[in-house]
Amino acid sequence: MTPRPTIIDCDPGTDDAIALWLALASPELDVRLVTVAGGNVGLDRTTANARAIVALAGRAIPVVAGAERSLMAPFRAETAVHGDDGLGGVRLPEGPPLAPGIAADAIRALLRSAPARSVTVVGLGPVTNLALAFATEPALVDRVAEIALMSGAWSEGNITPAAEFNAWNDPEALAMLLGLGCRRSMATLDLTAQALVTPQVIEDLARHQGGACWQATLAILRALPPSRRMGHRGFPLHDPCTIAWLLAPKLFGARDAHAEVDCGPGPGRGRTVIDRWDRLRRPPNLMLQETLDSTGFFTLLAERIARLP
Ligand code: BDR
Ligand code: CA
Repeated sequence: MTPRPTIIDCDPGTDDAIALWLALASPELDVRLVTVAGGNVGLDRTTANARAIVALAGRAIPVVAGAERSLMAPFRAETAVHGDDGLGGVRLPEGPPLAPGIAADAIRALLRSAPARSVTVVGLGPVTNLALAFATEPALVDRVAEIALMSGAWSEGNITPAAEFNAWNDPEALAMLLGLGCRRSMATLDLTAQALVTPQVIEDLARHQGGACWQATLAILRALPPSRRMGHRGFPLHDPCTIAWLLAPKLFGARDAHAEVDCGPGPGRGRTVIDRWDRLRRPPNLMLQETLDSTGFFTLLAERIARLP
């Protein structure tokens, strides 16, 4: 098996942290670059967290800072889920400094030096950095094997009634990515609701022995509040679903679908309109993940992250 060269664009973020560790623990992925957006808690925190997360895994992958804010709107902090520090109060040792440069430049440079259809591009936050990279050098899309996103919802949102956070934060950037001519996949809120972390799940996961990354994963899971949207039964572990898709697609049920994002100014801003039943007869623009084998997912998560330092 040849590991897939991979770029991860993220905004850590409690679930981003766990997604990064899952990716870094997995031989199927060769993570070559981590780029960071401001996301929920702002670039100072998300970059410090990304540096610490990569370092705790014992890896020296470049972490490059990108956009604090979205293309069209100022930065808006949303600390309710991840806490002020973005990691639910779980302290990690400081990582090495950021790599020099700007995310979009680093993404383009890596793609430029890669063969056709070879690089997997993962988006775990608002996709501003990815949109800037492709908007400024669109020909590089031919280097992409797949763009794998955590974004959107076909039912209701989690930041507004209509919109999921990543899609809502930068809908113009998401619209741009949805229009690129390459393979795409998406884990929406409807999928990640099936990766529900309940007290029982945490108890089962805690039976696995592991190093510092696994201990930090458990600490993060224990720190997160149950979600009102999930009836307080637990909380969805969003971003690791996107990585699990790349590692073990057999855990998922998926279908081709056409998706658009509402970029209007009204209450529907950021809503993803996903045509699961081909009512609009438009060509599919992504592989939509619909169902998840949650037992298999949590087993994969534990077995992989527990291998890290
Ligand atoms: C998404 O928003 C962020 O808070 C999470 O990290 C995830 O990427 C879920 O809506
Ligand atoms: Ca995220």
